[in-house]
Amino acid sequence: MRPYIFITRKLPENVIVKFKEHFEINMWEKEDIPVPREILLEEAKKADALLTMLSDLIDEEVITAGPSLKVIANLAVGYDNIDTHAATKHGIAICNTPDVLTDTTADLTFALLMATARRLIEAAELVKEGNWKSWSPLLLAGHDIHHKTIGIVGMGKIGETVAKRATGFDMEILYHNRSRKPEVEKTIGAQYVPFEELVERSDFIVCLTPLTEETKNLFTREVFQKMKKSAVFINASRGPVVDEAALYDALVEKEIAAAGLDVFTKEPIAADHPLLKLTNVVALPHIGSSSVETRTTMMELCLENIDRVLTGRNPKTLVNKEWKLQLSH
Ligand code: DGY
Repeated sequence: MRPYIFITRKLPENVIVKFKEHFEINMWEKEDIPVPREILLEEAKKADALLTMLSDLIDEEVITAGPSLKVIANLAVGYDNIDTHAATKHGIAICNTPDVLTDTTADLTFALLMATARRLIEAAELVKEGNWKSWSPLLLAGHDIHHKTIGIVGMGKIGETVAKRATGFDMEILYHNRSRKPEVEKTIGAQYVPFEELVERSDFIVCLTPLTEETKNLFTREVFQKMKKSAVFINASRGPVVDEAALYDALVEKEIAAAGLDVFTKEPIAADHPLLKLTNVVALPHIGSSSVETRTTMMELCLENIDRVLTGRNPKTLVNKEWKLQLSH
C-alpha cells in the first residue's frame, strides 16, 4: 500500500501530480474554506503525512489521532499553529518553508509600509469611486519614507531582507532581536537597540517577530504611547503579537499616525472589526508570501519534505530539531 498524504486545502494538480506515483494523495476539496475539524481528525487517523496550512490548528489531538502519522509539513515559515512539543514527544517531524519565501514576504512588507505611509489605498479608492474633484496641494498627503528611521522588531531572514530594501531608501535602520546579528550590522549598517529605544526613535516600526509566549501581546498601549505621534506601525508577522484594542485606541487618540496590517488576532478578521473602520489602517488578508512563484515553491518544498521523511531521509527544513536526534538513535 502506498503511504497516504492528506492535504488540508486544495492545491493545484500540477504541483501534486509527480508525487502521485509513490503516494496516495487526498486533498480537502475547497481552495478558500478551511478543512472542518472533524474531517481533519478523521484524515489524521489514516494519514502517514499531513500537509497543513497556517490556519489549521494542529494540536496534540490531531497529532495523536492515528498510529501512522510521521510528518507534518506546514505551508508557511511560521508554525505557531502546531504543537511542536507534542509532535516531538510522539516522534513526528514538523517541517516549514523558510528561505523560499524570504524575498517575497519582504517585498510585501515593504509594499505595505509604502502603501500605508503614502496612503495608496485611500488614493486609489478616491479615483475609482469618482471622488477626485481636483488636484490640490495637500490632497492625500502622506509621510515620506526616504531618509527616515525604520525599526525592525524580529531580525530573522525576512527582517534582514526588509532592511536591505530600506537601504535603497536611504533609511536609518534600527533593529531589535533576541540575538544580535553582527553580519547584518556590518553589511547593511543596521544598528541593534533595546526594544524601548527602537519604538521611541523609529518613524516606521515593522514587526516581523515569530509568535511565541514571549512575543504574545508585545505591542501594548504603553508601547504605542512611547512611539512618535507620526509613527507608522507595520505588522507582517502574526496578529497576536499586537494587542489590537490597544492599537485601535492608539490610532483613534492619534498617538501614532497609521498602521499597515497583514495579520490579525483572528483570521479572517470580521468585516465589522473596529480597526477596519479607520482610514489610516491598511489591512491585507495575510498575503506575505503570496506570489504564484513563491507559493508554488512552498507547496513543492512541503511535498519534498514529506517524500523525504516517508522514504527514510531527513527533511530539508525541519522545525523540531530534536526529531533528528531520535532518527539517529
Ligand atoms: C508565513 O509563511 O509564516 C508568513 O505568514 C508569510 O505569509
